[in-house]
Amino acid sequence: MPTTGLRYDPQGVYLPEHGLAENTLTEMCDRLGAARAEVLADAELWASGGDVPAEKIPLDAGFIELPNRLLDEYRSSGDASELGQIIATAQRLREHVDRVVCLGIGGSYMGARALFEACAHPHHNELARARRDSWPRIYFSGNNVDNDAMAGTLDLLRDCSATSVDGRWAIVVISKSGGTLETASAFRIFLAQLRESCGSDDAQVAELVVPITGDSGRLSDLATALGCPQRFPIPDGVGGRFSIFTAVGLLPAALMGLDVVALLEGAAAMNARFRQAAVGDNPVLDYVGICQSLEAQRDMAIRVLSVWSNGLEAAGLWYDQLLAESLGKQEVGPTPLTVVNTRDLHSRGQQHQEGRRDRVITNVIVDSYGRDPIAIGESSLDQDKLNELADKTLPDVMQAAIQGTNQAYHEDNRPTADIHLPRSDERALGEFFQMMMLATVVEGRLIGINPYGQPGVEAYKKHMNTFLREK
Ligand code: PA5
Repeated sequence: MPTTGLRYDPQGVYLPEHGLAENTLTEMCDRLGAARAEVLADAELWASGGDVPAEKIPLDAGFIELPNRLLDEYRSSGDASELGQIIATAQRLREHVDRVVCLGIGGSYMGARALFEACAHPHHNELARARRDSWPRIYFSGNNVDNDAMAGTLDLLRDCSATSVDGRWAIVVISKSGGTLETASAFRIFLAQLRESCGSDDAQVAELVVPITGDSGRLSDLATALGCPQRFPIPDGVGGRFSIFTAVGLLPAALMGLDVVALLEGAAAMNARFRQAAVGDNPVLDYVGICQSLEAQRDMAIRVLSVWSNGLEAAGLWYDQLLAESLGKQEVGPTPLTVVNTRDLHSRGQQHQEGRRDRVITNVIVDSYGRDPIAIGESSLDQDKLNELADKTLPDVMQAAIQGTNQAYHEDNRPTADIHLPRSDERALGEFFQMMMLATVVEGRLIGINPYGQPGVEAYKKHMNTFLREK
């Protein structure tokens, strides 16, 4: 069996007092196995280009084998492969600019943001260029229509001049459809400013804009009109919220200086484990089985992802979108909620401990930190009475908080489960993202909801456009 760093420890929810018998997963084995087989058959059907039965449309199963395909192509064709081109584009921009604005919303934004927060330096943009190893500062915009937020980013860029690398900036604009209003309007506004800062040098502007979009559509047409020498596709059959391992996530990640090969290797390792491991040792199937059992048997329809690291907040929000858009259909589907602890123990903790018994808490725990542990330390000013803990480090405090919180929940028969990431790095995040995408589609098949597509998102757009054009 391939090794994988990510561990899933469902121990807590097995406790009989939590309401799930020890044989819960064993009893679900057949159903979970059937859902896995269906998901894998979907992937094969999609890859074969065969006819998709009406009840399976849309079938965006292309994300499953994507990490393996990109790695295989990279190993056989190197720089000529898509991944090779992504890495080369990131290197080119690294040499030419000091800032990159990533425009996109929803699935065309959240994965890159999650990677930035989980794997880059927490103050990446504030570091001097040398301390960033010359990787550009990264800004996200177009993920809302917030006037003042965008004006603030434009302020920063207005002070830049295109005459030196320190002053130059670029745009990565991401939209699968190419027609999303938030992204399109942001692109128009940032493009106008880029043209100004390049003195209307059209060739330079074209070099500094990298579109990531479908083969056709308004953004594709715009990219052609601009003459952008480099652009990347979002493959058919990969939906927005499943696109983190396309250029949508990979180009921004490469621009942050992240190891995109390790990221894809993590995802590929999770694929292998998902295919081969039995229930009880299969993070994807176990996670689905436990969450579904608690929802079906105990009406626990709220999925709390409790991340024990600031850097994982955006990964949690990425998962919120994945679960909500995939399974929130036909008046069913669990409600996702991300909390960051210990921060949110001081806000939501009360409700999780004593509120409605409608939630299962899955902890995401980082086992080892990237930096040396910081000790509390001795002080001549001991009015805070911390000298007795002087030799304890912040990881020691965090560990005690995790154990203490779990124990408090268990003493009140509130179920929790743990996902352990060995580190908050590219490999572990690759495993985590693929685990959650696979779990979401497995759960969809298990409960008879098509996890692909998001028909409900269209309603607000229709009304918004009507109001906008009526004015
Ligand atoms: O998951 C999805 O499909 C959505 O969240 C989209 O990513 C989002 O609406 C942005 O769409 P587009 O990439 O077409 O601009």
